[in-house]
Amino acid sequence: MKVAALIPAAGSGTRLGLGPKAYVEVAGRSLLAWSVAALAPHADEVLVALPGGLALPRGVPARTVVGGATRQASVQQLLRATDADVVLVHDAARPFVPARVVQDVRAAAQADGAATAALPCADTLVRADAPGSARWGEAVPRADMWAVQTPQGFARAVLLAAHAQAEQDGFEGTDDAGLVARLGARVTLVPGDARAFKVTTPGDLQLAAALARTWDT
Ligand code: CTP
Ligand code: MG
Repeated sequence: MKVAALIPAAGSGTRLGLGPKAYVEVAGRSLLAWSVAALAPHADEVLVALPGGLALPRGVPARTVVGGATRQASVQQLLRATDADVVLVHDAARPFVPARVVQDVRAAAQADGAATAALPCADTLVRADAPGSARWGEAVPRADMWAVQTPQGFARAVLLAAHAQAEQDGFEGTDDAGLVARLGARVTLVPGDARAFKVTTPGDLQLAAALARTWDT
C-alpha cells in the first residue's frame, strides 16, 4: 500500500500579504518546510504543488509540480503526478499538525476511503442577517458542527473521481473532502488539533512563531 503526501503550496498568500505563503518563514524555516516535515514520516513520497516559476525552498525533500489557479486545480495536478494507493492532502499553510492527527487520518482513509481532520466548534456560531452584513442574524446551534482542517486522506481513486465530477459540474470547493462528500460518499471526521490552524492573516504568524518555540510533535 503506497501512500503519498500531496502538499498544495501554490497559493499567492494575498491575505497574509508577504508574497507566496509557502515561502514565508517561521522560526527560520519556511511554512512549506514545516508542513513537509510533519507529513513526510507518514508517506512513501511527498509531492508539492508550487507557484509557476518558483523553486522549492532550501531543505525540502520532495518532488514538485506546477500548481493551478485555484487550490482545487493544484490538488488535481498533484493527483495526476502520483500512482499511490492512498493520498494525504495537506495545506502548506498548516505547518504545525501533530503526528497523532496525521496517523489517525491515514488510518481512517485506509479503512473508510475518505477522512479529514476536523475540530468540534468551540465558539458560538451565528449567521449574518444578510450577505456581507456584520449584523447578528440567526444563531446556528454549534452542537455537531465541525471546523474542517487538513490533512485529509483518500483512496486515490475516490479523490480522482470526486475531482473529475467537480470539474464536470463546474463546482469549486475549498477542500477535497467536500468534493468527495458531494458525491454521496462517506467521509470520516477524525479529531484534529487546534495547533493545525491555517496561517491565513498576519496575526496567525504571531501564533505560529509562538508555537514554533516549543514544537516537537
Ligand atoms: N493553494 C494552492 N494553489 C492555489 C491556491 C492555494 O496550492 N492556486 C494552496 C495554498 O498554497 C495553501 C492552501 O492551498 O497551502 C490553502 O490556501 P490558502 O490558505 O487560501 O492560501 P493562499 O491561497 O495562498 O492565500 P490567499 O487565499 O490569502 O491568497
Ligand atoms: Mg486562497
